[in-house]
Formats: sequence, structure tokens, C-alpha cells
Amino acid sequence: MILYVASLLGVSLMSGHAPVLAEEALELLQPQDGGLYLDATFGGGGHTAKLLESAHTRVVALDRDPAAEHRAASLKSRYGDQFAFRHMNFSNLGQMEEGPFDGILFDFGVSSFQLDQLERGFSFKGSGPLDMRMNPHSGLSARDWLATASRDQLCQAIRDFGEEKNWRRIVNAIIDARGASQLSTTADLSDLILSCTPARMRFGSKIHPATKAFQGIRIAVNEELSAIEEGLPSAFEKLKLGGVLCVISFHSLEDRIAKRLFRKWAGRPEGAGDHRPQDMREVKAELLNRRPITASDREVADNPRSRSAKLRGLRKVA
Ligand SMILES: C[S@@+](CC[C@H](N)C(=O)[O-])C[C@H]1O[C@@H](n2cnc3c(N)ncnc32)[C@H](O)[C@@H]1O
Repeated sequence: MILYVASLLGVSLMSGHAPVLAEEALELLQPQDGGLYLDATFGGGGHTAKLLESAHTRVVALDRDPAAEHRAASLKSRYGDQFAFRHMNFSNLGQMEEGPFDGILFDFGVSSFQLDQLERGFSFKGSGPLDMRMNPHSGLSARDWLATASRDQLCQAIRDFGEEKNWRRIVNAIIDARGASQLSTTADLSDLILSCTPARMRFGSKIHPATKAFQGIRIAVNEELSAIEEGLPSAFEKLKLGGVLCVISFHSLEDRIAKRLFRKWAGRPEGAGDHRPQDMREVKAELLNRRPITASDREVADNPRSRSAKLRGLRKVA
């Protein structure tokens, strides 16, 4: 997962996060000289760097993680006024002054920087405080969230967001453990999940038994899906006519939100139950790809994280 992205720039960006589907996203965005672009999920700046180096563009990048700001410094010193970083949640895009944009990119989820730093509490591959907040200054840590969440909220996180088959046992174990304040570190949570995972699931799976529950709790703690529900419509509003919106998702629930909104803006049925006549639909966009674009075998081999990535693009036409 740790890959160097310095070659993207010829300057020393830090090691950490290889941008996923970068060539494919640029192919859709077609950056132009003088164009203004928004990278709504800066992370390690891999996609921003590509946008800046592909033409004489201007890029505004944002991230809700304050730690992303210092990673933006090398791009700022290289590109000056062509580049600006904002520390904000993309759910608040509607309040942003900049725009309209020629292209906007979202690359959901967490970065390798966040996963690899044990003190951020995202990883079960070591012990750190049970935090998991992308913005550690806002909201409840995973530890506090687990201590106070209702059974329904725990089920939603682990069963629905984590898509964990063993969700019932894990939820029960968390509820039993939290009464005795046993959940302070990522290792505590990981050990608890391991202890209630049947041997056939422990040994029959390619992934660590805590992977899915950690993912589900992270999505809940950061309210990731509601941020997407709020952020994508604001992004669409901030696109110029002819502008392109690109979304890279890693989870079926993220992709489902993007797919539904993209179909709505393109005047297509939003789901199986949408039987409205065509003249009741407004066409505001055209889809740039009917099926999501996925990573090539080569990219998956170089960067296994790209395996589950799906890219969708649309152009605003009205
Ligand atoms: C997958 S990484 C992006 C990687 C980036 N495209 C690159 O090439 O380095 C996702 C980033 O989006 C940020 N993020 C996730 N949800 C966000 C939100 N609602 N608002 C702002 N940033 C968000 C995370 O903090 C993380 O740094």
C-alpha cells in the first residue's frame, strides 16, 4: 500500500498514498489551460498533483483531515496561486466561495496516511487509541461512539456499513464489553472481534476478521454516507455548464449514492421502482460511462487498494 508518488511531480511529495484510477479520471476530466478544478478529497494530493501537472490549471483542494494541510505545503510552494487548500468537510461545499468549476473529483474513504498511523486509530494492525475520526477535532471518537451507540446504530454500522456476516455476535460482544469499559484501543476492539469469530470464519477468510467491522464503525463515526449525500448535490451545483464530475468509490453504499444521483441528473430512472414517464424527468447531465470504470490488472497488482474502486463521470449539460 505504501507507494511513492513523488515521480508525479518531480518534487518530493511524501510517501503514502498512490492515487487510484488517476489516468482514467484525468481522461474524463480533460484538464484545460486556465481551467478551475476542485479535488474534494485531497488525501496525499496524488490526484491534485496530476491535475496541476497536466495543464496550466488552478486547483482548489479540500480535506476534513487537518493533517492533510501540511501535505499540501509542497504543492503550494511549487504552484503558488494555482493551488489552494481548504480544511473542510465536503458536506459543506455549498458554503464554499470558489467556483464554478470545470471539473470536480471525489475519491472517497480513508487514505493510506490515515490507515498507517496507528495513533489515528483506524487500523487493527497494531494498537492505537480507538479514535477513527478523519477530523480528530470534531465529533465522537470511535471509543466514545461505541460506548454510547444504541444497538440499532451498532447493527447498522457493522451489518450494513461493514457488510459483516458475523455482525450479531460482534454487536453483542461490544455491548457486553462496553459495560466493563474494555474498549479503549484498536487492539481491544480487534481482540474482541477475533474472540467472537468462529474458527471457520477466522481461517477460511483472506482478510483479517476485524476488517469489515472496523470499516463499518469508521463509516458511522465519520458519518461518511450522509456527507456524500450532501456533498455530491452541492458539487453538481458548483459545476460550470459543460463541467465534469468524477466520483471514485470503494464501497457499494458509496457507489449506490453516486449512481442514483448521476441517473437522476441524467434524467434516467433512479432505481427499479422509478416508473415515472420520461417527460417528467429533467435532463441536467450526460453520463460519461454507462458502467463504472475499474482498475486495470496492472494497477491492482501495483496497488491492491484499487481492487474495489469504481469511477463514474458525468458532464453537466443544463
Ligand atoms: C482516499 S483518500 C484521497 C486520496 C487522494 N485522492 C490522493 O490521491 O492522495 C480520501 C481523503 O478524503 C478525505 N475525506 C473523506 N471524507 C471527507 C469529507 N466528507 N470531506 C472532506 N474530506 C474527506 C479523507 O480525510 C482522506 O484524506
